[in-house]
Amino acid sequence: MVAGIPPDPFPLELSPELMHQLVAEAGRRLVDHIVSLPGQPASYLAGTTAEAGREAARTQREPLPEEGSPLAPLLDQLFEEWVPVSLNTAGPGYLAYIPGGGLFPSAVADLIAGAVNRYVGVWAAAPALAELEANVIRWFCRMVGYPPEARGFLTTGGSLANLTAVVTARRERLPESFLGGTLYASDQVHHSVVKAAVLAGFPAAQVRRILADEHFRLPLGPLAEAVARDRRAGFSPFLVVGSAGTTNTGAVDNLVALADFAADEGLWLHVDGAYGGFFTLTARGREVLAGLDRADSVTLDPHKGLFLPYGTGSLLVRDGQALRRTHSVRADYMPPIEDSGEFTDFCEISPELSRGFRGLRVWLPMKLHGAGAFRAALDEKLDLARWATAELRRMPGVEILAEPQLSIVAFRLHPTGLTDGDELDGLNRRFLTAINARGRVYMTGTLLRGAFALRISVLSFRTHRERMEMALEDIRSAAAEVLGSPAGG
Ligand SMILES: Cc1ncc(COP(=O)(O)O)c(C=O)c1O
Repeated sequence: MVAGIPPDPFPLELSPELMHQLVAEAGRRLVDHIVSLPGQPASYLAGTTAEAGREAARTQREPLPEEGSPLAPLLDQLFEEWVPVSLNTAGPGYLAYIPGGGLFPSAVADLIAGAVNRYVGVWAAAPALAELEANVIRWFCRMVGYPPEARGFLTTGGSLANLTAVVTARRERLPESFLGGTLYASDQVHHSVVKAAVLAGFPAAQVRRILADEHFRLPLGPLAEAVARDRRAGFSPFLVVGSAGTTNTGAVDNLVALADFAADEGLWLHVDGAYGGFFTLTARGREVLAGLDRADSVTLDPHKGLFLPYGTGSLLVRDGQALRRTHSVRADYMPPIEDSGEFTDFCEISPELSRGFRGLRVWLPMKLHGAGAFRAALDEKLDLARWATAELRRMPGVEILAEPQLSIVAFRLHPTGLTDGDELDGLNRRFLTAINARGRVYMTGTLLRGAFALRISVLSFRTHRERMEMALEDIRSAAAEVLGSPAGG
């Protein structure tokens, strides 16, 4: 056991023995935790444990301790009291929102990055490490089919990548006085795009959200009409955001058509591929995502499609100089900036100066496993979503609301005689609760054209056929349960 930090004239500097013990103790707990994931409930939210979550949250409120304490009781509390009252987002049964799982080598990379604590915001401060990260970005650029002049950087997630994309598009396509700028996306686009526009200085109403077509894609006709209408009204259309996998249904916009339209209209095309972009590693995904290489910028989230732990998104920009024009601001106290053209300072092309060494958490698993392992895992997710859809279709009373374009299927119970409305929505909300109460999978719902829909979102590297069979068993028995009760009760 690590006996806490001993009274010592240099208490913040651990002895080698204590460092070894600290890592060993944390490692032992972590491995126990990871191997227990499949047996853990998919969610704490069913039954009385929801209240346990509130109670555990309240125990966090305590004054800052003046003295240190031993490690073991702290880890006991963490693993035994606090982690269990959370969604099991790392487990195989997590079919909610957008899963990923969280590859263990990335967590090890975080430990190394934190312990080494080198400065990668400025190239000269850690050339090989900054370049390791730049090369991760080169891998991503190659995946989407970008040319060598493309650049990009790792963010903390898709929201910040989308924000930086909107700001870059604004700086590239609008004058300094930009308030007449308008941007376009389908009503299915992720809300982080609207948030990004607002943070970038635009009124929310100037994000024109076009009603999606029957496949939940951005329709070209209404898009063209909206742009023309805005031009006539004196606005300055500057950006269209396509989705490469929406959060609701995994819908992929027609990126080739959007690229043609954006080129004709002089608009910046950003594609939000936070969820779906990495499916370009697979042959089927590449087909669905055709045109991705023509976007001016692309968001990809490694903490989704590359199964990393939360905390890593990325923005890629086809003309890398656009990032520099948007972000470069100099200061006298800064070290020399790398301007040979061969290397890049991340602080010159992104909003941050000091930043974590995020590249390692992508690099280590990709080097350890190789791209083939990721391709196979993504292909498996495409198969699982199709298999689940075929099984759902065979269930009486189940209606498929969105076929999987990638790895999400949306569906609901729709007994004959019930039409869209509160009663049908209520039935489906109870259906979702009954599925999740079985504890083996956790799914979430959404509204599609105003109607409540359930989603199976398969993206964790830990979700395999066995867990999907459990999901379908639970869906079947939950359907029988809720259909056996009065629909409005
Ligand atoms: C399509 C899409 N875009 C953007 C985001 C935002 O990403 P993040 O949660 O990493 O900020 C998400 C999150 O689920 C998403 O699904």
